[in-house]
Amino acid sequence: MSFPVQVIETLPDQHLWVLETRTTAYAFSWNQHHRLENVYWGAKLACPADYAPKALGFDPLGNWNFARNTREEFPTWGDYKFNEPCLKVRYSDGVRACLLDYADSTTAGNDTEATLTIHLQDPHYPLRVRLIYKVFVDHDLIVRSAEIENTGDDPVEIEQILSAAWHLPQRDSYQLTTLSGKWGGEFQIQRADLPQGKQLVERRRGSTGYDSNPFFALDDGTAGETRGDVWFGALAFSGNYKLVIERDAFEQVYVTGGIHDFDFCWRLEAGEVFRTPEFVAGFTNQGYGEASRLLHAYETAQVVPRVSARQARPVVYNSWYVTEFDVSFENQERAAELAAKIGVELFVMDDGWFGQRNSDRAGLGDWYVNPEKFPNGLAPLIRRVNELGMEFGIWVEPEMVNPDSDLYRAHPEWVYHFPNRPRSLGRNQYVLNVSRPDVQQFILNFMNDLLSNNNIKFIKWDMNRHFSEPGWPDAPEGRDREIWVRHTRGVYEILRQLREKYPQVLFESCSGGGGRVDLGVMPYVEQFWMSDNTDPYDDLFIQEGFSLAYAPLTRMMWVTDTNGINGRSYSLDFRFHLAMMGVLGMGADLTRWSQADLSRAAELIALYKDIRETMQFGAFYRLRSPRESALSAFQFIHPSGREAVVIIFLSQSRFGYFSTPVHLQGLDPNARYVAEGWDEPWSGQALMKRGLPVALKGSFVSQLIRLSRV
Ligand code: GLA
Repeated sequence: MSFPVQVIETLPDQHLWVLETRTTAYAFSWNQHHRLENVYWGAKLACPADYAPKALGFDPLGNWNFARNTREEFPTWGDYKFNEPCLKVRYSDGVRACLLDYADSTTAGNDTEATLTIHLQDPHYPLRVRLIYKVFVDHDLIVRSAEIENTGDDPVEIEQILSAAWHLPQRDSYQLTTLSGKWGGEFQIQRADLPQGKQLVERRRGSTGYDSNPFFALDDGTAGETRGDVWFGALAFSGNYKLVIERDAFEQVYVTGGIHDFDFCWRLEAGEVFRTPEFVAGFTNQGYGEASRLLHAYETAQVVPRVSARQARPVVYNSWYVTEFDVSFENQERAAELAAKIGVELFVMDDGWFGQRNSDRAGLGDWYVNPEKFPNGLAPLIRRVNELGMEFGIWVEPEMVNPDSDLYRAHPEWVYHFPNRPRSLGRNQYVLNVSRPDVQQFILNFMNDLLSNNNIKFIKWDMNRHFSEPGWPDAPEGRDREIWVRHTRGVYEILRQLREKYPQVLFESCSGGGGRVDLGVMPYVEQFWMSDNTDPYDDLFIQEGFSLAYAPLTRMMWVTDTNGINGRSYSLDFRFHLAMMGVLGMGADLTRWSQADLSRAAELIALYKDIRETMQFGAFYRLRSPRESALSAFQFIHPSGREAVVIIFLSQSRFGYFSTPVHLQGLDPNARYVAEGWDEPWSGQALMKRGLPVALKGSFVSQLIRLSRV
């Protein structure tokens, strides 16, 4: 393996940078037009000279050609080009045109992980820009970000700052895949031909949200799960973001993305550096399945918290759907006893334990233990849970406050608001202004109290409403529109400090279901609550979309009782099989379960513990999509290859029809595999080429097949 970044001097004053991963290459040059332009992104080429820009020899549009968009790596706004800019600034003298010259480039790292930094400089004004490219060779991914430094004495206003522009090769057509959704219906896959013009994936409500997710994929219209060219990426940010996917009249296609410029302005003081969120992207010629596996492997190896990266995630019980706000020592103890009996390892008490929190109308912000519900504090319950052999976890929603709370009565100025305007409620609460240092300190203080005085090993960090009236009347001069970034950075910083101080505590990110799932918060949390919708058939679709971008290791789902959302009921096995495809949790009223169901649950939890390394750390394959047929199938392969688990779901059989075989993927064709009940082993080749026969019949039935390599 050679060093993954090559810097080639093509002509005096012209440079070519080639970034190579295991199977891909990404190349750009500083060219004769004094622009840093992308020349290639796709499969790795055998001969490095082939990456050099190739002149057409003629220009059909002549002088008018300049009116097209450029392929600039980091287009600034300020001269004769019309791309979505990555950078738009206003200098203190009112000049709003930003130009950047190439100054230098530096590299660091080794054969598997290297960083290239391109140093740019405004030729007239004291502004420096660094474009940072991290090359992850084995993951086949490039992670881009930018830093802007004000080296002068006067402030500079940043009006737009995106993390990167990604240019795709010219093709006749492209198909765009994005994730959209709603509460209870997160991560719906949308796929459509990319029309000419701009497509916007955005969020302007303060946090990641369900209606879109900062992820994109583009293919040439022919790619599927197992084949075809796919370019894909995800932005690491949990605040307002935008991804702009543009196809222009010359078939140039590019994606820019980063912090949303809507209502945003950042005052960059003398000497200050602004860092953008990271934007990870990659290319594969093996279809969407491989694109997802590349992201999953990167997340597991590089993004999830380091302390727990290789630690198997415990089986969780959460009492929310059973007791809601009506928590007490007695009902939590009863649930904990039953949960412990069937093999649960971590018991979580959800909302309702603090302040005057008897409904969602009051108490949020008052983080003291409710004395009527827990007269002796949390200690007796935690002790009991520990005696039962489980760890204890708890729910918090630190960024919010109910108007009916002591906190709000004491600090009405701590929420986002504008003077002379009403304050809108969402779920009867306001958003605390986490951009404020005193609010950050308040959150750190109560979280420190909670974690240092109690044996708590898990925090479910919730966030249940969108931002509105995002005013900060006493903000430092000129900084009130920075809240869109400062809030999210504040949350990250609080989580970072808590993790550093309590490294043994696991965190879950929840936002009214899967509303805060992204690579920005992932370094601070072990897992994401995928959806408040626990209907397993709906979850088949939700988890399929989730898995496009996010690893099963980060996906938490519970087995619950019949879910009111669709009024459907399911067998216990169907519910478990769905919840097992990631991190397994439970949220059912076990006091109403029959002995037979409790015993079956204990068996399934024992099975899950046996296969969880495969389910949490294995490679994930979407064998058949619930969007395409009534029979869907998913497969996990243990990192060592010694085991594969296939889970098949049938929503409804029709006309007595038996399904066609399910073709497995990723097995060693020459190895032999056995499963329980098989007379003889099958070769990996047969399982992949001939397929696994399926004999499921009925409605909402499922089957888990565990294959061991002989
Ligand atoms: C949100 C979460 C739920 C639960 C409630 C508690 O809706 O998504 O899981 O924690 O809040 O109020």
